[in-house]
Amino acid sequence: MLRIAFTSDLHFDGTGTLTPAQEVRRVANEAAGCRPHALVVLGDIGHPLRNFCDCLDTLCGRAPFVGVVSGNHDVWRDVAHPSRSLWESVLAAETRARGLVWLEQDSIVVERTAIVGTMAWYDYSGAEPSVGFDAARYAAIKPQISNDAHWIDWGWGDPEFAQMLRERLVERLEKLEADASVDRVVVATHVPVFEEQMRRDPSNFAWSVANAYFGNPRTGQEIARFPKVRAVVSGHLHTSVRAVVKRQRLPDIHACVVGSDYGNPTWLMLEM
Ligand SMILES: [Fe+2]
Ligand SMILES: [Fe+2]
Repeated sequence: MLRIAFTSDLHFDGTGTLTPAQEVRRVANEAAGCRPHALVVLGDIGHPLRNFCDCLDTLCGRAPFVGVVSGNHDVWRDVAHPSRSLWESVLAAETRARGLVWLEQDSIVVERTAIVGTMAWYDYSGAEPSVGFDAARYAAIKPQISNDAHWIDWGWGDPEFAQMLRERLVERLEKLEADASVDRVVVATHVPVFEEQMRRDPSNFAWSVANAYFGNPRTGQEIARFPKVRAVVSGHLHTSVRAVVKRQRLPDIHACVVGSDYGNPTWLMLEM
C-alpha cells in the first residue's frame, strides 16, 4: 500500500501572527509518524521568503521524498524579490537546495506511481454559475476580493497565467501516460481543479462570487482525460473536502482538499 501524506496552507509565520512554528512542527510530526512514502506540501507555505524557507526546514527529512508546490501567497512580492523572480527561480532554488522536490517541474516516482504538481492558479472558470462568467468583470473586482491583486506584481493576467501552467502540466501528463515504468499518477495542486472539490453556497460570499478565485475546473477537465490519474489533492480553500470524480470508462479519481486554516494546519493521508 502506497502512503502519501499531504499538508497545505501552512502560512508559516515566525512572528506567530498567522501559523506559529510549533503548529507546523506538530503537523510535520503527525504526518511523519505515519511513515509515508512521500510528504507533499500544497502551497501557501510562507511569506516573505524567510518564512517560506523556515517552513521548508521544518519539513525536511520527514519522509523519503518531500514534494513542494507553491501557492498564491508564496509568490507575493517582498522587499527583496518581485513575484516573477520568486516564481521563476527563487522558490525552486530554495526548495532544491534543501533536497526537496520542486513539483512544478520535477516529479516523484515511488512504487510505480508518479506525483506531479502545479500551483494551477485560478482563471475564473470556478465562478458561481448563477453569477455568470465574465472574465473582465472578475479581473476588475479582484482588488476588492483577493489580496493577490495588491501583492502580486507580475504582468500576467489570471486566465493567461493559468493557461500557461495548464499547458505545462498537460505536457507532463502526456509523457507519463506514455511511460511504461509508471502505472498511476497523483496530481498535487494548490488551487482545486474539480467541481467536486469546490464549495458552493450562493448565500455565502466566499463560496459564490469569490469562487472565481478559488478553483480552476478548466484544468480539471484536462487532467481527467488521462487514464493513469487516480488522485488530485489540493489546498487554497482552507476547508476540507474528500470527494470522488467519476469518469466514463476510466477509473475514479480521488479528489481532496486539505483544509488547513490560519493557526490550525492539518494534513491527510492518501492510501492507494
Ligand atoms: Fe492559504
Ligand atoms: Fe492560496
